Order: sequence, then structure tokens, then C-alpha cells
Amino acid sequence: TTGDHVKIVEVGPRDGLQNEKKTIPLATKIDLIERLAKTGLTDIEAGSFVAPKWVPQMADSDGILEHILKLPSESQKPIAYSFLAPNARGLENAMSILRKYPTAFNTFESQPQSPLGSTQSPTPGETAKSPAQNKPYIEMSVFAAATESFTQKNLNCDIETSLLRFKDVILGAKAAGLRVRAYISVALGCPFEGRDVDPRRVAEIATDLLEMGADEIDIGDTTGMGTAPSTRNLLKAMQAAGIRNEDIAMHFHDTYGQALVNTIVSLEHGIRTFDSSVGGLGGCPYSPGATGNVATEDVLYFLDSLGMKTGVDLDAMAEIGEWITGEIGKPNASSAGKAIMGR
Ligand code: HMG
Ligand code: MG
Repeated sequence: TTGDHVKIVEVGPRDGLQNEKKTIPLATKIDLIERLAKTGLTDIEAGSFVAPKWVPQMADSDGILEHILKLPSESQKPIAYSFLAPNARGLENAMSILRKYPTAFNTFESQPQSPLGSTQSPTPGETAKSPAQNKPYIEMSVFAAATESFTQKNLNCDIETSLLRFKDVILGAKAAGLRVRAYISVALGCPFEGRDVDPRRVAEIATDLLEMGADEIDIGDTTGMGTAPSTRNLLKAMQAAGIRNEDIAMHFHDTYGQALVNTIVSLEHGIRTFDSSVGGLGGCPYSPGATGNVATEDVLYFLDSLGMKTGVDLDAMAEIGEWITGEIGKPNASSAGKAIMGR
């Protein structure tokens, strides 16, 4: 993705909801995903195959995946739905559902790997072999972190062990024709180790994940501590390590109100993929005090002001933000969303 097109990955159904204490009915989650699928979005993070003891709210992700596979999409373009998997068990739980519906989703042809990741990996809807319009892509996301403390809290192991587990997930997913996103959390600040996360460590972990076959590195500012200078420094470190902008997505939480500032720094650096959450929902259960992702509505309004194209309908998104925040009893955290809805 280059030029004036920006890819928005809507993470509301996963990052937005995972931290909610009250169980949200499966029907509401599916309703949210179906509404989002009609806005022009091409990428939706839909659930998480993690241990239910750790994140109870995501325990019904199997039902979400099954629903996506059962129903033909009304979308004009095939939508990529991603699911987190922390280990082989998570991948296997997803695969057991995918095996029940082997022709219900688009896969990618196996691609020869370049030394630094699968540089020829197609973007959904672009170069994959004749993708069927009404079939989704399914993607898996692994989630590493840049500090040992956060990795222990989030995954109950050290970074090295987490990477070994992710290697199994990545290889298994790629063998099944699934695209793989690889998060690196706390890349711009850690709730336990502070602001000074070493950008070279992030780049090192990114290189490892790309070498394992991940298609994309997703830089997580879990705590929202990132600033314009720290974002710039991190992207420079990634560049110095030979990681291409096309292989990077940015995932900003807006805890300190810096997400749009960090977004423009990333855009200027050449990044064209951004995660965001409708209504600004979200937070990580293992990152104390972390608030929601940057609101999709705010990002859309901002990108439009720059003349950049996303293909996503801002007004439709604002309505969904009002609806879902009301549904789960949270204030709408999107400034643009509230303004558009006349509040
Ligand atoms: P553990 O307790 O060390 O693992 O957790 P275990 O192997 O001892 O398993 C414990 C229990 O979970 C066992 O069940 C396993 O079978 C089961 P029991 O025998 O006790 O009944 N289990 C599973 N069940 C379902 N699916 C699985 C699975 N694995 C084990 N995949 C583990 C280790 C990795 C499982 C755990 O730490 C975990 O699930 N962590 C996930 C935490 C999480 O989801 N955090 C939020 C997502 S990350 C995030 O939000 C940041 C992000 O947005 C980016 C950013 O903002 O930076 C992505
Ligand atoms: Mg997050």
C-alpha cells in the first residue's frame, strides 16, 4: 500500500471488547462485526483464541469464526478477518473450525520467503489468486512484546519462549494459506519498565518474526506513552534494520492523547496501515491503566482532511460507534464520532 491510500484495520471487536468485565453476548459481537463489514472496511480483527481463563471475554471467538465462515459476505471486496493466537493450541482451535468449512474462505498461495519475511505476500483483494468476493480471508495474529516484564504478565513466559511458540503458530498458519500479522506490544512504553523501550530491541524482534514468515509487523503502543519523537526514532530503527514500511502497521492506544500525532509522524515516514477501534473502545487486561485504541472515526476524519483515501464510510462508522458504546454502557470515546452524531 503506497501513495494516498491508507489501510485501516478495525480492531474494535477484539481489542475493543476483550477488556470488558461484563460478558457481551455473542449476538452483539456478531452484530458489531456485520455492521463494520458494511462500512467499506477490508480488515477486521474479530476475536482471539487465547486461554479463556486469561481473557474470558474472548471465549466465544470460535462462534465468531464459525459465523464468518457460514455466511456469505455482503461486502464488495473480500474482507480479511484476523484472530489472535498465543500458541499452537490457539491456532489448532481456529484450524479445527476452518477444517469444517474448507472452501468457505480465500487462502493465499504458498509464497517463496525472502530472507526478511514474505515480501511477495499479497494484500487481500490485490494479488491473491482470483479471490472470491463473497469469501473472507482469515488471518492469524501472534503477539510478542518488547519487554520481559510485559511478556511475563501477558503470556506467562519470557520473550525467547514466546517467539518459539509464535514460530509454530506462524509456520502452521502459513502452511494453511493464512496471512499472519505479528504484534510487538509495549514498543513505545511499558507499564512495568517505563518509557525507555529500546527501539533496536523492537527491530530485532521484528526481524525474528519476519524471518519466521510473518507477513506484517504491527507496532503496539499498548500504553499510549508514545510521542512524536519516540515514534520517529522507532521507525528509524526499523528502517536501519532493513524492515520495509509496507511490512509495518501501527497500533496506537490513545491514553495520552498522542495517537493522531503519532499517526502523522508514521504517515510522513511512509507507513500506510493503521489499527483503530470504533468508538475508541479498548484496552489490554494485562496493561494497567491502558485505555482504548485510537478511535476509527477520528482517524478517518483526520486522514480525509489530508486527502488520503481509506474507502471507509465515516458517517456509518460514527453510527456504529454510538451504537456499540451504548450497547456496552461505555462513553463514546471518539471526538469526531460524537460531533458527527450531534452530541
Ligand atoms: P499459561 O497459564 O502459562 O498456559 O498461559 P498453560 O499452557 O499452563 O494453560 C493454562 C490453561 O489454558 C490450560 O487449561 C490450557 O489448556 C489453556 P486448564 O488445563 O488449566 O483447564 N490454554 C488455552 N485454552 C484456549 N486457547 C489457548 C490456550 N492455551 C492454553 N490458546 C497463555 C499462557 C499464553 C495461554 C496465556 O498467557 C494467554 O492466553 N495469554 C493471552 C493474554 C491476552 O490475550 N492478552 C491480550 C491480548 S494482547 C493485547 O491486547 C495487545 C495488543 O492489542 C497490541 C498492543 O496494544 O500492544 C495485541
Ligand atoms: Mg492493543
